[in-house]
Amino acid sequence: MVKNWLEMSSDSLSDFAARLGHWDAGDGPLYGRLAAALRRLLENGELRTGASLPPERLLAGALAVSRNTISAAYGELRRDGWVDSRRGSSTTVNSAGYSPVGAHVANGLFATLIRDNPDVIDLTIAVPQAAPIVTEVLSNPAAHIDDPTTLTAGHGYQPRGNPALRESIAAILTGNGLGTTPDELLITTGAQQGISLVARALLRSGDVVGIEEVSYPGAIDAVCNTGSRIVPLPLADLGVDVEALTAVVRRERPRLLYLVPTFHNPTGTALDGVPRKRLARLIAETETTTIDDVTLADLDFDQPAPPPLAALEPEAPVITIGSLSKVFWGGLRIGWVRARPAVISHLAGLKAASDLGGNSPSQTSAVAMLEHYEETRSWRKRQLGESLDALTTALKTRLPEWQWEAPLGGPHLWIRLPETDAAGFTQLALRSGIALVAGPLLAATTGVANDRIRIPYYLPGPELVTAVSCLETAWRSRGRSLDLRN
Ligand SMILES: Cc1ncc(COP(=O)(O)O)c(C=O)c1O
Repeated sequence: MVKNWLEMSSDSLSDFAARLGHWDAGDGPLYGRLAAALRRLLENGELRTGASLPPERLLAGALAVSRNTISAAYGELRRDGWVDSRRGSSTTVNSAGYSPVGAHVANGLFATLIRDNPDVIDLTIAVPQAAPIVTEVLSNPAAHIDDPTTLTAGHGYQPRGNPALRESIAAILTGNGLGTTPDELLITTGAQQGISLVARALLRSGDVVGIEEVSYPGAIDAVCNTGSRIVPLPLADLGVDVEALTAVVRRERPRLLYLVPTFHNPTGTALDGVPRKRLARLIAETETTTIDDVTLADLDFDQPAPPPLAALEPEAPVITIGSLSKVFWGGLRIGWVRARPAVISHLAGLKAASDLGGNSPSQTSAVAMLEHYEETRSWRKRQLGESLDALTTALKTRLPEWQWEAPLGGPHLWIRLPETDAAGFTQLALRSGIALVAGPLLAATTGVANDRIRIPYYLPGPELVTAVSCLETAWRSRGRSLDLRN
């Protein structure tokens, strides 16, 4: 970020102003709207610790407002602890001592979670409502749990997770062709904590990590927080480009690969057949520790999911990570890590140091829910299929110039817009009542996916159809809104 504004060209200042988007739209005093737009940049990690904000006078000129408006907006940020300013010197982003380990922090995941505006249809996060069995078990445990006193048995601290839950998950994985014993499993607070624990256990500042060039932002954040350097892995039609990945592995010797080869977030592709086998072989041969994130693998459409990488090469250093969030409910906060028992022990120690173990009643309840795993999974896939149909039919009619490849599974449609400023379009969409994620928020590097948006289709079809009509309004207003600004 810019350090000394007085030495910078006027281009930097107009860049900064452009990043504020349509900041002056909305209600309330002008300074409040400006403070809100600045806060968005801070929360997204676009303005990082130590960066200076433009001097009041210069920003007032660039935004064509009075200097008092800028002073009042900066004052609001100062009061809330976002920035520091000393008399006669610049206003800088405050770390309050909580600076991240790395030089850069992505924060894309956080940015997708922090919206809580009830007037907006939220298409930023791809998470489902609870499946009916979740509500049934939680509202009437006695009907589903043989001995409901087990919900509160013992002291309740289980850093490795509830033994019965580890057994149920091990049985499901084994049934699906990935032989697993309970001591190879750690129950985590969602797949997100599993990724985070592996990153913290393995990575040190400066380590190299290979991640698909667009990917799940929570993993990008977890890796960035360790100060590691991300090497983006190009994508081909079916998923990661294995030839390019091989070259990266041989050249950069990454400490870790993080991959979503089964119904990739956000592209919906699945690496199958020979390329998948070649990938597993490469990992085994080069002994490159690899996270195989199978969080979305339960959500196959026409063809069953290909086998997890660890099933193809049992001796390879693959850490498989999954979750109950996508079939059952994210609010359970139950994920799992499968690895060799020694790795699991190490990760359990790290987990204990951070939370002493997950939520015990949630895990006991999950054992009862997993008895209905297959039927719940079929139900979820049916719902997703219907929503995807409704979404794509509405898009084809109302926005025929938008393009996408049909996803093979998972909950995301990865749309290519016929122009490159997807981030700018998400600002317009927000004004039409739709919160969306633009490609750059999911990118492992700058300069990719600038023309992309991601639309999750967990919402019911009719809501998605309404969302598409708002998106059409926003899309058709582009030229007009530019005219207004000029
Ligand atoms: C690929 C992938 N991994 C992990 C997660 C996190 O899931 P959880 O809710 O289990 O933490 C998600 C959630 O969207 C995801 O898409």
